[in-house]
Amino acid sequence: MAPTQVKKICCIGAGYVGGPTCAVIALKCPNIIVTIVDLNQARIDAWNSPTFDLPIYEPGLEDVIREARGRNLFFTTEVDKAIDEADLIFVSVNTPTKKSGVGKGFAADLNYIELATRQIARIATTSKIVVEKSTVPCRTAESMRTILDANSRPGVHFDILSNPEFLAEGTAIADLFAPDRVLIGSLQTEEGKKASAALSAVYNNWVPTDRILTVGLWSSELSKLAANAMLAQRISSINALSAICEATGANIDEVAYAVGKDSRIGPKFLKASVGFGGSCFQKDILNLVYLSETLHLPEVAAYWKAVVDMNEYQKNRFSSNIVKTLFSTVTNKKIAVLGFAFKKDTGDTRESASITLINNFFQEAANVTVYDPEVKEAQIWQDLTENGGDLAAYKKKITISNSALEACEGAAAIVIATEWDEFRTLDWTAVHSKMSKPAFVFDGRLILDAPALRAIGFSVHQIGSGWPSL
Ligand code: UDX
Ligand code: UDX
Repeated sequence: MAPTQVKKICCIGAGYVGGPTCAVIALKCPNIIVTIVDLNQARIDAWNSPTFDLPIYEPGLEDVIREARGRNLFFTTEVDKAIDEADLIFVSVNTPTKKSGVGKGFAADLNYIELATRQIARIATTSKIVVEKSTVPCRTAESMRTILDANSRPGVHFDILSNPEFLAEGTAIADLFAPDRVLIGSLQTEEGKKASAALSAVYNNWVPTDRILTVGLWSSELSKLAANAMLAQRISSINALSAICEATGANIDEVAYAVGKDSRIGPKFLKASVGFGGSCFQKDILNLVYLSETLHLPEVAAYWKAVVDMNEYQKNRFSSNIVKTLFSTVTNKKIAVLGFAFKKDTGDTRESASITLINNFFQEAANVTVYDPEVKEAQIWQDLTENGGDLAAYKKKITISNSALEACEGAAAIVIATEWDEFRTLDWTAVHSKMSKPAFVFDGRLILDAPALRAIGFSVHQIGSGWPSL
């Protein structure tokens, strides 16, 4: 029998998902001991940093760590010990898109999930609840169960739950404190329901009962992919409309406002942009595409694939419009790219639109300066060259700046790639005085007051409006 009351939790994977989620569980459940483990010693050391130099940046995270760390929250690389002591284990390891083999470029790589599952089976001397926290393809829980059942010690029983995480980066702590819903999937057996109730009781320390949804295992797994696919689909839909706006003289912000007033549609996730980024949207949709194909549903696969294709189109369309507007050549012109994170209030750069934009400008032989308030320099170089680019060649044409003003010095054009608040409140008069003329601003995030900037003398072009020369 797996435990019915959770007193000790182990979380495998101290990343963007496992770290904040289990830190908040520890904060809200002072009677539960929470141990977060990771193979990466540097990452664990950062979580244990005496000066709170944590491995990820999230507003409010430091306060949570300050209060809970050392009280009932611990970070360690002693994985085996933490596994064996726990009543409940969250598996929060990464599940990147496969880079080779069957399903290459689409399917999730479940290698880390399988390794973690085998480790749990090998180590555990008492029965446990194992919770799939990572976003995984449908029916992964079944594979986990097969591995656990085949490798467990005599008398040790595992119940498997799916408990996908819906937090968004940049608002992770606020999302965890007051989630729209907590989703728990279990087998609909007596034991499965008991395990589900035990995990519900953990969340119930701060989440109201009516927000804790209990469903079947497969529904829970698919719901996570479906939620991300539908959110991304809204962005690709509005971005497709932004291209029509540019061609017709309509304004995408006005269209989104008018459309979003329909209470059946609602106003959220209708902000046109240079394209969505982040570790989840593209990966999860490609996963759904792969699932649909393996289920022999090619029309369904093509439908979801178009959401990703539209996102690629939007990024490339924006950069080629910029080149066209800059008199169809940017060779040796200085372009300042403001923002490298995939959205504001995070240092995360995974799938960031900036990477595509800068690479496109680099191909056009532009000189690019980049500024981001949170992203570390080494990360920028790593992202730009991850597909085999020559670092030395990049360093000749690309410079990383310490401030927005510095990046804009002598630039022909500014490109807003991330919606950081500090870009709204820049001293734009000072920026204008430092640029070569005519001074162009390309707003890929619709955050700037275009009329005010035009009054200073800027030529302003925003996604979804104001491209008169095209
Ligand atoms: C990842 C996935 O991207 C996401 O889809 C899933 O929902 C949760 O896991 P994230 O937390 O952002 O999200 O990943 P990452 O920041 O890479 O963290 C995973 C951590 O697991 C890393 O620190 C890695 O070192 C650790 N890990 C990985 C292990 O401890 N053991 C392993 O076997 C593999
Ligand atoms: C997303 C989901 O929101 C979250 O529920 C899930 O758990 C993980 O994936 P995240 O990737 O952190 O979260 O960020 P999100 O706020 O959803 O933004 C994703 C991308 O879409 C960003 O690049 C953002 O700038 C872009 N976006 C978002 C738009 O372009 N327009 C919008 O209206 C909203």
